Amino acid sequence: MEVITKIGVLRNRLAREGAVALVPTMGNLHAGHIDLVRVARASAGVSGCVVVSIFVNRLQFAPNEDFDKYPRTFAKDCERCAAAGVDVVFAPDESELYSIAQTYVVEPGEIQHVLDGQVRPGHFRGVATVVMKLFNIVQPRFAVFGKKDCQQCRVLSNMVEQFNLPIELVLADTVRADDGLALSSRNSYLSAEQRAEAPRLYTLLVEVRDAMQQPGTNAALLETTMMSTLAAHGWTPDYVAIRRRSDLGVPTAADRSLVVLAAARLGKARLIDNLEITLPELVKKFLKHQH
Ligand code: PAJ
Repeated sequence: MEVITKIGVLRNRLAREGAVALVPTMGNLHAGHIDLVRVARASAGVSGCVVVSIFVNRLQFAPNEDFDKYPRTFAKDCERCAAAGVDVVFAPDESELYSIAQTYVVEPGEIQHVLDGQVRPGHFRGVATVVMKLFNIVQPRFAVFGKKDCQQCRVLSNMVEQFNLPIELVLADTVRADDGLALSSRNSYLSAEQRAEAPRLYTLLVEVRDAMQQPGTNAALLETTMMSTLAAHGWTPDYVAIRRRSDLGVPTAADRSLVVLAAARLGKARLIDNLEITLPELVKKFLKHQH
């Protein structure tokens, strides 16, 4: 495995590669990231090239957020990547990626202002901008992202579509601890007591998903009930929202592919999670009965 820090060196290294699959990360790698490497390898094939980028992107952190405190474990990350069969780790420093002030940015549109965007202004602009840069530097055929960051997936697939990027996004399922907690670098901010409480976020999402299968369920009531249950157990919830999966808009009665998303703070950690909800196709069933 090669560790490359310079854009020019990376371009030379990848020039003769066929299928390149990129896994963008901010490091502090856990089993969730390593699963993305597995998915990347499956996309690129044995003869393809799997690139993991490690870069803590200042542009996507608001001034009050944890940019300085974000865990940085570079040596360990490289070991994990090597063990997982990564071909190249691309780890530029800030002066390499932002050598001049980034005055051109990618504006994701209305979707950047809802849900996480409402709590983290500028976040998705920062994500879209750095991912566009990484795409241009690496020029991958595949890029792998985790569904854990559901809104990020939507923002980036819109970007690929609207800028006609010749890249296939591959979205991977969320990897969880045995108790259901989605793996996240920010779980390291939790005390032992908070870590024991943390799986509640997932448990409640499962309850919402299951309740939505019942006909006539009041989605808004499920959202507020989950918010108050979290609050009663010491969390500070930012949102619980049942949305249309395609664009994260508020669903109509006809929408069948939904997702329930939640973000809440527990101690120093801000945790996010989501679960997909697929409702039965009522209209089709109805039509079948007619014939
Ligand atoms: P980071 O938080 O390091 O996550 C890197 C990738 O790992 C993202 O695609 C994220 O969705 C995925 N991931 C995180 N936890 C996961 C889990 N438990 N299961 C599966 N996948 C998981 O997301 C970012 O970095 C940044 O915003 C980035 C895209 C790199 C741009 O800076």
